[in-house]
Amino acid sequence: MSSAIESVLVEKRVFPPSKALVEQANISGMDAYLALCAEAEKSPDEFWGRLARENLVWNKPFSQVLDSSNAPFYKWFPDGELNVSANCLDKHLNTPRADKTAIIFESDDGKVAKVSYRELHARVCRFANGIKSLGYKAGERAIIYLPMSIEAVVAMQACARLGIIHSVVFGGFSAKSLNERIVDVGASLVITADEQMRGGRSIPLKPAVDEGLGMGGCEAVRNVIVYRRTGGAIDWTEGRDLWMHDVCADQPDTCEPAPVNAEHPLFILYTSGSTGKPKGVQHASGGFLLWALLTTQWTFDAKDSDVYWCTADVGWVTGHTYITYGPLAAGLTQIVFEGVPTYPDAGRFWDMIQRHKVTVFYTAPTAIRSLTKAAESNADIHPRRYDLSSLRIIGSVGEPINPEAWMWYYTNVGGERCPVLDTWWQTETGAHMITPLPGVTPLKPGSCTLPLPGIAAAIVDEAGNDVPPGTGGFLAVKRPWPGMIRAVWGDPERFKSSYFPPELKGYYLAGDGAQRDTDGYFWIMGRVDDVLNVSGHRLGTMEVESALVSHPMVAEAAVVGRPDSTTGEAVVAFVVLNRDLPQGDEAAAIAKQLRDWVAQEIGPIAKPRDIRFGENLPKTRSGKIMRRLLRVVAKGEEVTQDVSTLENPAILNQLSQSV
Ligand code: PRX
Repeated sequence: MSSAIESVLVEKRVFPPSKALVEQANISGMDAYLALCAEAEKSPDEFWGRLARENLVWNKPFSQVLDSSNAPFYKWFPDGELNVSANCLDKHLNTPRADKTAIIFESDDGKVAKVSYRELHARVCRFANGIKSLGYKAGERAIIYLPMSIEAVVAMQACARLGIIHSVVFGGFSAKSLNERIVDVGASLVITADEQMRGGRSIPLKPAVDEGLGMGGCEAVRNVIVYRRTGGAIDWTEGRDLWMHDVCADQPDTCEPAPVNAEHPLFILYTSGSTGKPKGVQHASGGFLLWALLTTQWTFDAKDSDVYWCTADVGWVTGHTYITYGPLAAGLTQIVFEGVPTYPDAGRFWDMIQRHKVTVFYTAPTAIRSLTKAAESNADIHPRRYDLSSLRIIGSVGEPINPEAWMWYYTNVGGERCPVLDTWWQTETGAHMITPLPGVTPLKPGSCTLPLPGIAAAIVDEAGNDVPPGTGGFLAVKRPWPGMIRAVWGDPERFKSSYFPPELKGYYLAGDGAQRDTDGYFWIMGRVDDVLNVSGHRLGTMEVESALVSHPMVAEAAVVGRPDSTTGEAVVAFVVLNRDLPQGDEAAAIAKQLRDWVAQEIGPIAKPRDIRFGENLPKTRSGKIMRRLLRVVAKGEEVTQDVSTLENPAILNQLSQSV
C-alpha cells in the first residue's frame, strides 16, 4: 500500500468525478460550480439573499441581507424572522416527507429505533411544551449534556423551537468543565441523562451534573431534566430534578414555533483557543441554518433517497451542523449512533453501513486510521468482508487526512467509486468552507481542494497580503458569510482580537496554516496557534497546562503536541514538580496521578499521552519557555537547533526520558 501512496504523491494523481456522479449531482459539473462562484463574486448580497429566500421559511421576510455597519459584528438578514425548528420539521409535514424516516437510531448494543418526521415533530413539540410549562422563555440558556440519542436531537430542537439558546457539552467533559460552561453561559436549565452507554459499559452523566452544580456559580439553574437511558441509580434533588418523560407526559403534540430575529443566538458551543479558557462560539439562527442546509445539499449532494450517516457526537460542531440541523432541514433519513466504532468489534461501522444501506458516510481521519490498523490485522473485520455497495459519497472532517489514510478509505470503503470529501471547516465557520463537491471537483489525496461558492478563502501573510502559490501562510476568509461566528459569548474584545486582528485588513483569521498549489487547491498544514488537534478534537496547550499547574504537586508545566499515526497529535507534558525529581515506579505513579487529574479537570480527551519530569524547563535567558525545542524532544529526536540562547542546556537530556 505505501508504495502506491508514494506514487500518488510523486505522480500528483487526481481523481476526477465519474460522469454518473456529475450528471445526477445537485451542483453538476465544474461550470455549474464556477457559475455559482461568479454569481457570489458579482454581488454577494444578491447571492446570499437569493439563497436565503429560496431555501428558508421566513415568518417575516428580511429587507436587508448584510449589515456591516459595526464590522466585524456582522448581522445577516437583520430584520428577518424565522424559527429554526420549524425549518427542520414543520416544513416537511405537509409534504410526502412527513412519514419518511427522519432518524434511524442504533444503540450501543445494536437495538434499532426509527422515527418519522411527523413523530420527531411531535416529540420535539411535547418536550418544548413541557419546558415552556416550567416557565422557560426565549433567550434563556440551556446546557445539554446528553449521550447520542434521539432525545439529544429532540432537546436541541425543542430549545430552538422556543428560542432558548442551547449549549451542548460533550459527555466526555468533566464536572469541572461542565461547571465552567454553566457559569459562563448563565444557564437556567440543564438537560442530561442518568448514564450513557459506550462500548458495553455504562458511564454516569447525572453525577457529573450534580457535582458541577455543586461547585458554585450555578444559582441560576432552576431545573435539571433527566432522560432515563439506563435506569442506573442516581441522586435526586426534589424540586429541581425532573424526568424527561414526566416533563413530556400529557403535553400536546403541537407547539407553536416562536419566531425569532434572524440574529437571535441559536447556540453557544465552547471550543479551545490559545488561552487557558475555552471560548463560547455563538451562532445566529438565520445565517447558521442557511449555511448548514446549503452545505448539506451541496457537499453531501443530499437526495431524498439517501441514508445519511455522520458519526460525530452532538457535543461537537459537526454534530450540530450535520446531525441536528443540516440533514433535518434537508429532509434526509439519517443514522444516529450511540456507540463506538470498535464495539462489539472494529467492523461495527462497516456492518452498520451494510445493514442500513448507508449512501453518504461522514467520519473523522482518526477513526479511519484506527480502523485501518484493526482491519489490516484482522481480516474478519476488513471492510471488504462487508457489502458497502450502497455508499456513494464518503467524507472526512476534523483534522488533516494524510494521503495514506485517504487512499485506504477511497479504496477499501469507497470501492474506488465514491469521492472522498475532505471537508475543511471549524466550530467558528458553522459549516463547510473548503471542500470537494461530488459532481464537480477532481480530488487530490490530502487536499481539501476548493472553497465553496461565496467563500472568499485566501492564504495571506502577516499583513494580510496574498501569498503566491506554493508558499505557506495564514488561512483567511476575506468576506463575511452567513454561517460565521457572531460573537465569543460575553467577550466582544476576544472575538475581535482572535478572529479579526486589525493587521489582517479585517479578514477572518482561521488560526490554520495552509498553502495553495498552482491549481488553486488548498492544503491545510495545521494550527498556527497553541491549539492541538487530538483525534479531531481541539485542545489548547494552555488549557492543559493550567490544569496541570493547579495540581498541588506541580510547579510548572509546558505542553506540546507530538505527531501520532492514529490520533493525529498526542499531548506531551513536561512537568517540574515541587519536590525532587521522581524516579522509576514513583515517577510512573505520579504521572498516573497527573493524568487522572487532567481527566478530572477537563476530561479524559485531554489526558497527556506522555509525561516527562525535569528539574526545570528549557528557557531563554529572558525566561521564555522554548517550545520548539520541547516539540523536538517530544518526538524523541535529537536537538540539532542552536541552543546557545538556552539558559540550561543540560535539561534537554533529562526531559528526553519517558516515564
Ligand atoms: O485545524 C483545523 C482542523 O480542525 C480545526 C477546527 O476544529 P473544530 O472547531 O473543533 O472543528 C472540527 C470540525 C469542523 C481547524 O482549525 N480541521 C478541521 N477540518 C480539517 C482540519 N484540518 C485539516 N483538514 C480538514 N479537513
